[in-house]
Amino acid sequence: MTEAPVEAAAADVDLETLISLAKRRGFVFPSAEIYGGFASTYDYGPLGVEMKRNVRELWWRRMVQERSDVVGIEAAIITNPAVWEASGHVDGFSDPLVDCLECRSRIRADHIENDTCPVCGVVGRFTEERQFNLLFRTFVGAVQDDAAVAYLRPETAQGMFVNFDNVLQSTRRRLPFGIAQIGKSFRNEITTGHFTFRMLEFEQMEMEYFCDPAESIELHEYWKQERLDWYRSLGVRPERLRMRDHDPEELSHYSSATSDVEYLYPWGWGELEGIAHRGDFDLSAHAASSGKTLSYFDPQREEHIVPHVVEPAAGVDRIMLTLLVDAYDEETDDRGEKRVLLRLAPHVAPVTVAVLPLSRNERLAPTARQVWDQLRPHFRTQFDDAQSIGRRYRRQDEVGTPLCVTVDFDSLDDGAATIRDRDTMSQIRVPISGLVEALQQRIDELQPEG
Ligand code: GAP
Repeated sequence: MTEAPVEAAAADVDLETLISLAKRRGFVFPSAEIYGGFASTYDYGPLGVEMKRNVRELWWRRMVQERSDVVGIEAAIITNPAVWEASGHVDGFSDPLVDCLECRSRIRADHIENDTCPVCGVVGRFTEERQFNLLFRTFVGAVQDDAAVAYLRPETAQGMFVNFDNVLQSTRRRLPFGIAQIGKSFRNEITTGHFTFRMLEFEQMEMEYFCDPAESIELHEYWKQERLDWYRSLGVRPERLRMRDHDPEELSHYSSATSDVEYLYPWGWGELEGIAHRGDFDLSAHAASSGKTLSYFDPQREEHIVPHVVEPAAGVDRIMLTLLVDAYDEETDDRGEKRVLLRLAPHVAPVTVAVLPLSRNERLAPTARQVWDQLRPHFRTQFDDAQSIGRRYRRQDEVGTPLCVTVDFDSLDDGAATIRDRDTMSQIRVPISGLVEALQQRIDELQPEG
């Protein structure tokens, strides 16, 4: 099928349009929707879960497997509460809150401008500011008293600090080296909204890079550049990415310097990833609190040092949102018909190749199935034979599938199939026996640099 030429018109997506697409096509659903949902909580659907796996795997490959100086761990979500006392989260992990006396909204005090309520617009009608701790508390065991209190981790990072010595002893590392982890974190966020940008339960990908204090400033700069490069390698538009250094009053309780990778979201610039210089705050705090030595013996200087830490800390859900916002595009063809597409890079797209028989005609089915069988071991595939081929191309465009393979009646005679390109809508005819190589070549060409 030949498609009408298009007039390229990059469209910035508004959040409502994206939320609707994400739900309709199975990327992200409101959690427990049949019960009216739950604030700031979302479930990933069949396509979302595939894409999320790609994001995690790309991060792990770049941060752990392709490097010689980083190893991974998986630590417990619920652990000894002493960890969160020593880390400063029990006392210091809080947001300043006020209530608007007019509309009763609960608002972060540092989000208020010109003494005006951002919800109802009334000026100067707020309660006194008080600190609200973001830790989720729970109880371990049969008795719900203070002695049984435990916390759901608010960051994965502490798993790396409390295992610092275990990793050092078991892997015999030299500085600098990193410990990485991917896993769920939990925060009782009071400011909500912006879809998956701020959730109660979310997934972090964090790496603690332990280094000689004398090298830490230089390494902080190195990781800032490396992380920016990674986002570019995912295909995120460079003009919508920036690095912003925190002002001293913004710094978290553990940080001596933090820079954020920010993305230009539909509502403005926002944090995508934080890259903090944590100094020796955490190792020293845990050493003091546990009474254990958490240091590194420097064989050259022949002395023990407490390493400093540079921490690139990313959120999988925020990356998902960023990729969807960034990839969204609309085009109008010369018949005035709108085409919605996600220009996702092949390595992040949930489906890389869709197999589409021209029709459901039973003569086509065996060849189409055989093509699908041939491609499944090599690519993330989908088979779709429902409705017209034009509608199926549009459906694949809308979920970001870079390539479609169409099997038609000519295929039965010439043993060839058509590869159709999402971005250009161009079509080429390729022998079925050479499909895997032809598709791989096109996927390699489409992959962003970096
Ligand atoms: N260990 C350092 C740390 O946790 P953070 O800036 O609070 O630093 C790191 O979090 C990243 O985790 C953020 O840049 C963001 O991508 C993600 N993140 C944090 N809170 C989140 C939330 N409530 N919902 C979704 N993602 C969140």
